[in-house]
Parts: sequence; C-alpha cells; structure tokens
Amino acid sequence: MAEAQAKLALGDKNVEMPVLKGTVGPDVIDIRKLYGQTGAFTYDPGFTSTASCESGLTYIDGDQGVLLHRGYPIDQLAEQSSFMEVAYLLLNGELPTKAELEKFDSTITRHTMLHEQLATFYRGFRRDAHPMAIMCGVVGALSAFYHDSTDITDPRQRMIASHRLIAKMPTIAAMAYKYSVGQPFLYPDNSLSYTGNFLRMTFGVPAENYVVDPVVEDAMDKIFILHADHEQNASTSTVRLAGSSGANPFACIAAGIACLWGPAHGGANEAALNMLREIGTVDRIPEYIARAKNKDDPFRLMGFGHRVYKNYDPRAKVMQKTANEVLDKLGVTDPIFDVARELEQIALKDDYFVSKKLYPNVDFYSGVILSAIGFPTTMFTVLFALARTTGWVAQWNEMISDPEQKIGRPRQLYTGPAQRDYVAVDRR
Ligand code: CMC
Repeated sequence: MAEAQAKLALGDKNVEMPVLKGTVGPDVIDIRKLYGQTGAFTYDPGFTSTASCESGLTYIDGDQGVLLHRGYPIDQLAEQSSFMEVAYLLLNGELPTKAELEKFDSTITRHTMLHEQLATFYRGFRRDAHPMAIMCGVVGALSAFYHDSTDITDPRQRMIASHRLIAKMPTIAAMAYKYSVGQPFLYPDNSLSYTGNFLRMTFGVPAENYVVDPVVEDAMDKIFILHADHEQNASTSTVRLAGSSGANPFACIAAGIACLWGPAHGGANEAALNMLREIGTVDRIPEYIARAKNKDDPFRLMGFGHRVYKNYDPRAKVMQKTANEVLDKLGVTDPIFDVARELEQIALKDDYFVSKKLYPNVDFYSGVILSAIGFPTTMFTVLFALARTTGWVAQWNEMISDPEQKIGRPRQLYTGPAQRDYVAVDRR
C-alpha cells in the first residue's frame, strides 16, 4: 500500500515515513516509527488530521457530502434496503442473498428477549431517569447476564454477542420508555419486523392489540439505516478504544452509549428539537441566528455543522424528505417543521454559515419525524444508540479481528510542573 514517502526534517534528523493509500480518500502518513526515530510525538487533539485505524466499513467524503457503507451510497440504502439488510452488510461486508437475509433476520429475532431478571434491574432506576442513563446502565449490565459470549478471542462468541446486542437494543430502549411513563413492559413479538416489533413494544399496551402503521414502520426503519454507522466518530472511537484493552463487547457498547449522549454528538437530536420548540415561530428565527453568530454567546444552532461534512450531510437530505412524507401521511401539522425549513433557508444564505460551511446535519430533521411519531425528546438519542449499535459491533469486530490490533494508548504534550520535591504540610 505504501508507494510514496513523506519526509520530515526535525533538527538534524531527516525521517522518511511511508504514505499509505486507501481505496478512495486522502493519503495517510504512517507515523508509527516517528517516536522511535526522532523521540518526538505528533500533536492532534480532537483527531482533526489523524487516522486512528484502518477500516473497510464506512467511507465519508465530507467535501462532496458522500457517505458509503461497504461502498453503497446511504441514499440508495435508505430508499431501497432495510435496516436488517444494512446491519448484515456492515457486519459481514456484502449484501446478503435472500436466504442469508432470512437466516440473519431469524437469528436476530430469536435474541430479542431479555433475561427476566433485567426487568428487576430497571425498577432500581428513578421513574424520571433519562432513558439514556437507563440504557448506559442496562447495556453495561448485559455482561453479567450473558457471560457465555464475552470471550473476545472466540469469533463465534463475538458474533453471538453482536447478534445479541443488535437484537436486544430495541427491547432495552422500549423498556426504558415504558418505565419512564409507568406502563408495563411488553415482551417482543417475533412475528413482527425488527422495527415493527420495536414500535409495538414502545407504543403498545397489554390491554389493546397494537397494529403497526406501515408508514411509521418504514420511516423508522429509514431513520435506523441513516444512523447505522458513521466511520470513526467520537462514540465509535470510544467503543474501539474500550475494546482495544480486551474489554467485553457489552462494556464497550455501554462506553459508546455514554459518549453518544453528549450534545455535540448523538444528544444533538434532542437539543435540536428543544431549540426548534424554543424558537417556536418563524419570526423569532433572526434572533436565534444572531445568537448563534455571537462569539460571546455559547448558543449554537443545534443540528447544524459537522466535523467531517463541509457540505450538506447526505443523511439530512433523506431525513428532510422522510419528514415531509411522514407529516403528510400522518396528517400531522407541526409548526416546528415550518420553523426548521425556514431556519435552514435563512442559515444557508447567511455569510457566517456559508463561510464556515455549516449545513444541516442528520439531527436537524430527525427530531421533527420522531416527534410526529410520538416519541418524547428524551428518547431521541436512545433511538440513535439503538441504530448505531450495528455500526459499533461491526467496527468492534473489525478491530478485534485485525492482527495488528494493539491497545489504544495516546501520548500527550505535558505542560505540568517538572519534577520537584515533596514539602511537608506544615512547611507549605
Ligand atoms: N452554530 C453556530 N456556529 C457553529 C456551529 C453551529 N451549530 N457549528 C460550528 N460553528 C462554528 C464554531 O463556532 C467555529 O467558529 P470559529 O471558527 O469562528 O471559532 C466554527 O464553526 C467551527 O466549529 P468547531 O466547533 O471548531 O467545529 P468542530 O468540527 O469541532 O465541531 C460540531 C463540529 C458538530 C461539534 C459543531 O458543528 C456543533 O457543535 N454543532 C451543533 C451540534 C450538532 O448538531 N451535533 C451533531 C453532529 S451530527 C450527529 C453526530 O454525528 O453525532
């Protein structure tokens, strides 16, 4: 892979480093021997110029607004595929045949139930706990219930753990919701699709026969596809870093969920809808645009901007179209959708947003759809975590299978005191 050499002159040392080429995308300078040859580290907080791993799963061209999973464009997958198929693709590298898809679907379906004792575990949480807090705890606890799939050196156990995580996430998410509204938990119904089953466990009640609305099922499935994976983002890197120490997969995914919760990452969908509701009416938009541009105001336009996309996030395009369809088909009129559309139009013409290449991201319209379906804002990030679990387990498997895999151990630029002697407390 290394065809060229990058040259670095550091004092009197001249170092040559291999330049690696991926299938597509920027060249990567291999600096692994730099410290040994020069005694110097590189400095890149926030990883703005650093490739942390080699991966064959997901490719993003942020300037062109392209997102590919195993080579397939996200809009094609969202329009033509299903979440189960995309999960198979991410895990196995190729689209499944009909028979492979049926087998995968049936395997996932058979793992949807949770250990009965986990229901007791839920009852330890406060009723008003944020469902993400519940999800972090419950997923972390899974290793206590499924320790027969925690040997990461066994590929079969790794695959069972991956299937379990993908399958149980909807049940865990639905139970977190049910607990917060004081309704009884519903067991999975394996005659339904992955997404239909999740909707029933969330919105169904034992007293009534819940009928899955195909419009909602289709929109929800699309939302899951759009969130399935996204290269080496903060939560995925967290999963990889946790996994690099040999931690079990359930613990690693719990770490990913904790990272995803932040408002700069997965928590942005909740923050974006709260912001749209706070704006409330189109006439108040200029006030918020001015706040977003004011350096002395910490306010940011939530659902806008992205570390990698310096163009329209391709997921946001599908999301906007889906929002139109869902609101239309469900006959929902929500003024926040008008606020969102108008805000987008104003921001896209504003010099500040244009010059900084800030475009709507996946979270800008997802909240509008989820709210129309009936989810409270606190559930938004939970749904993101549910879908992203497929990407996390696929990335984790890829890392563990890599023979060059080492524990992740970044270094630092130390700026604290140099060595000094201890002074007894009465002499300080
Ligand atoms: N509103 C106003 N200004 C912004 C925004 C925004 N949403 N996003 C970035 N900027 C400005 C920022 O102030 C900075 O200005 P300056 O160069 O004058 O200091 C410039 O644009 C670059 O921003 P940055 O914070 O250095 O860029 P980053 O790559 O570190 O941050 C981001 C990316 C997504 C954290 C940021 O754009 C943001 O906070 N957006 C709002 C939160 C959000 O929607 N997050 C969801 C991301 S998509 C889902 C996911 O992958 O998790």
